[in-house]
Order: sequence, then structure tokens, then C-alpha cells
Amino acid sequence: MASSSSVKIRTAKPVKSRSDRDLIFGDLWEFDPAPESADPKLKERYDLFIDGKFVSPKGRKYFDSINPANEHKIARIAHAKAADVDLAYKAAKKALDGGWGTMPGRERAKYIYRIARLLQDRAREFAVAETIDGGKPIKESRDFDVPTAAAHFFYHAGWADKLDYVAPGRKVAPLGVVGQVIPWNFPLLMLAWKIAPALAMGNCIVIKPAETTSITALKLGEIVQDAGLPPGVVNIVSGFGDTGSAIMTHPIAAKVAFTGSTEVGKIIMRSIADTDKKMTMELGGKAANIVFDDAPIDQAVEGIVNGIFFNQGHVCCAGSRLLVQESVAPQVLRKLENRIKVLRVGDPMDKNTDIGAINSKEQLDKITELVDSGVKEGAAMFQSACKLPRKGYYFKPTVFSNVTMSHRIAQEEIFGPVLSVMTFRTLEEAVEKANNTPFGLSAGVWTDKGSRILKMSTELKAGVVWANTYNKFDPTSPFGGYKESGFGREGGRQGLLDYCKLV
Ligand code: NAI
Ligand code: MG
Repeated sequence: MASSSSVKIRTAKPVKSRSDRDLIFGDLWEFDPAPESADPKLKERYDLFIDGKFVSPKGRKYFDSINPANEHKIARIAHAKAADVDLAYKAAKKALDGGWGTMPGRERAKYIYRIARLLQDRAREFAVAETIDGGKPIKESRDFDVPTAAAHFFYHAGWADKLDYVAPGRKVAPLGVVGQVIPWNFPLLMLAWKIAPALAMGNCIVIKPAETTSITALKLGEIVQDAGLPPGVVNIVSGFGDTGSAIMTHPIAAKVAFTGSTEVGKIIMRSIADTDKKMTMELGGKAANIVFDDAPIDQAVEGIVNGIFFNQGHVCCAGSRLLVQESVAPQVLRKLENRIKVLRVGDPMDKNTDIGAINSKEQLDKITELVDSGVKEGAAMFQSACKLPRKGYYFKPTVFSNVTMSHRIAQEEIFGPVLSVMTFRTLEEAVEKANNTPFGLSAGVWTDKGSRILKMSTELKAGVVWANTYNKFDPTSPFGGYKESGFGREGGRQGLLDYCKLV
């Protein structure tokens, strides 16, 4: 890593004295292991979910899904080719014409409620599977990913019989069959964000999970079966970029929805530019988390930690740039470093773990490369002294100070547990710096003044602005970006508008 550079890197020193604080947090005393023990009920092989059945892919090709916490192979996943995607679209079209699109909303609602309830019944199993496949801490998959996914199904089930209120004064109708491709950072939750509103509106679906995290998506296929959805309404096809591309360009798709990198988002947009497909894109981000000198500092430090270290920083709306007012910068940095020293990095299946495994070797390499660039370009790096497990993909919580706007770590999405800190003197300078990025997904503002919150939320070019909190998600609240962070909204009434046509 960056240690080969001539720049001096500060790491936290292991605790030596036995103050009360050390007894709780230091190296001398450790928490006992608290491994999660629920059975994720994994299968050795996962097939494609097409037309209500699990079927093997035409080419009989499978790829491995790896547990990033220990590099063990956990299952083989079907690699769908264009012919499989075609079958999925035909099944979806048949289901659409067979009555899903014209079924009364109150009937469709029952199916969506059933999905939500069945997911709740199997919540622990899904949480463990999510953690094993993707590396996120079990406390996050258990307390955030799975319950929030269920909440999305409940919320949209509630809309299904109230569609007349989506666009008051107008009637709405489904678009038809929609194609969706999702990333690996919130595998089950992104699936729920994509399919719940589409189903409520009466669309049928062909969706692809990301190649490193297909398992909970394919397990949801079992729930779709158990909920008794008509065959073909939901089709889940796993695979790589070629599978994703086949989904996005298929002639039957009336709309495509994508969440992932800006780079792939642009490829998709180019590939369907001469069609009349609707599209929504939820792409990258480089959010500013802005702390003013009148902010409640301890609360802000917790918000900064949550903003960048939640889900190892694999979050499109992560608060990856900290903008702190100059007068409080030393205090905020000191408190932040102390807080980072006690973050528990390691086995994602341990209930005490704060930061789990990086999702893949590729992502770890990308983070390492960007962090090296930060050191080379002259930013000052601070890392937690934590010990990382020998096997698996891990990265120490990292904070860069003395960052300038031109550094790569200030401009590019790192998508890892790495924070870039910059300072500002005036509100105008904070706005200028926050908006100085091609992205515009989210931002955070920490201040005691309500008027300043309102001013900032109108000046910041970001789809979501959190005030005195960060990373709060709710199915009722629309989420989406400006500029290269994409377009379209997911969640709330606005999210439903992106899955219907007005008639
Ligand atoms: P990616 O954008 O390649 O992958 C996202 C999804 O798109 C996956 O399901 C993938 O199979 C699919 N895909 C890939 N090529 C495609 C194509 N040509 N047509 C259709 N679908 C295609 O992201 P990747 O490579 O996994 O991560 C690279 C970087 O992207 C990350 O380091 C991060 O910075 C960013 N990223 C951002 C996300 C966000 O939510 N903002 C999510 C995932 C990645
Ligand atoms: Mg995996």
C-alpha cells in the first residue's frame, strides 16, 4: 500500500495505559467474538429465475460467488446469455398481456404484501446470506438492508390500489416490461427499490443482480414463487456486463433502470439513444458533508463516521468529502481520529463488527490505487491502527487531510472507507467547493441555524440534502441525482411516476 511512499503517514498508536477508556476500547481488552449463527440456507448452485421457474442457463455456464471476508467460494451462479434474457423478456410480455398490467390495483397489492411478509419471515436467513456474499457487517444487513427492503415492498403495496393519486387529475398506466440492472453495494435493497414500484404500477420485470452479489436476488425468486405471483411477472437473471447489456438493449423493454457506475451508465445511454425506451439512471456520487462552526460537534462526528464508513463506504451517496469550517477543523479532526481508532474492522459475521470486508478484490485494488494517489499528490493520511484479518479483502478506515480540490481523492468516487477532508471559511466557499464536482447525488449540512439549512439545501446541487443527520433512507422519500449522478427518482410518489405513462 501507500507505505512505500516517502510521505509520512500517521497511524493511531496502540493503547498503552489502562485508563477506563482503554478497558472498554483499547487493545488490552477485546470484545468476545459474537458470531451470527443463523443458517443462510445456501445452495451449491443458483439457476436463473425465468417464467416462475428456476432454469439452467442455455450455455450451461456458471461462475463462482466468493465470500469476500475469507475468499472462500460459496456457490456457483448461472451466467445468462442473450438467449436466456430473450426468454425472460418473452415470459414477462406474456405475463403482462395475460393480465398483470390490467389487474385491479387492490389485487396486485396482495401479492406485493405477500412478498414483504415472506421476506420478514426469512429476514435472518436473508441477512446472513447478504453478509456472506457481499461482506457487509451482519448488524447492517440485519438492521438496515433486509428491513428496509421489506419496507419498500410494504410501502408500494400500499400504493397499488391508490394509483389515481400518483398524478392527480390524470390516469396512469403501466409502461410494460421493464429491464433493470443493479450493483453490489446493497444487493437485496436495490432489488426492492427497483421491483416494488414497478410491480405496484403493473409492469413486468427482467432484472439482473451484480456478479459478486447474486444470491439474495435469486433467493428472492423463491419468495416470488411462494407469494404466488403469476409466472413471468418477475424474472431474475444473473450474469456479467454482457447479460446487463442484453437486458438494457432488448427490444421488448419499454423502460430500463440502472444503478451503478457513471461509466457504465453512459455506455447504456449510448446503446439505447436511438430507441424510445424510457430510462432512469442512478449513478455515482462524491457527496460533501459540510460542518459549520455552530454545529453540535460530537453529533456531527458521528454523522461523518456514518456518512463514510457505513457499508465500508460502498455507498453512492456516501459523505466522502468532509468540508469543515476552518475555525473548528482541528477539533473535528481530533475527535474524528479518536472515533476511528475504536471502529471495529473485521469479520462481517461478528455482531460487533463496524466495518466488514471490501466487496471484491477488484474494488480493493481500486481503493488502494486511489489512496496511493492521495499520498503521492501530497495529502496527509491518517489510518486506524486496527489489525486486518489475514485472508479476505479489507481496508483500514482512512482519513486524508490537506486535500485540495484538484486531488483525485477529491474528485473521483473511491467507493471505500476513505474520507477526504477540506476546509472552508464562508458559506459561499462551502457551496462553491461542494458543487465543484461532476456528481450531484447527496450532501449533508451540520449547523445550529435553520435558515442556513434552508439556504444550503437550495444552493447545493444534490438530489438529497440531509441536515444534522446522514444516510437516512425511507421508501416514502424520493432519491436520485443531478448532473453525472443520473436522473429519475426512486421512492415516494415521484418514484412511481418513473414507472408509468400518463393516459
Ligand atoms: P458497474 O457499473 O460495472 O456494475 C454495476 C452493474 O452493471 C452490475 O450489475 C454489472 O454487471 C452491470 N454492468 C456492467 N457493464 C454493463 C453493461 N455494459 N451494460 C449493462 N450492465 C452492465 O460497477 P463496478 O464495475 O462493479 O464498480 C466500479 C465502480 O463503480 C465502483 O468502484 C464505484 O465507484 C462505482 N459504482 C457505483 C455504484 C453506485 O451506486 N453509485 C454502484 C456500483 C459501482
Ligand atoms: Mg460474492
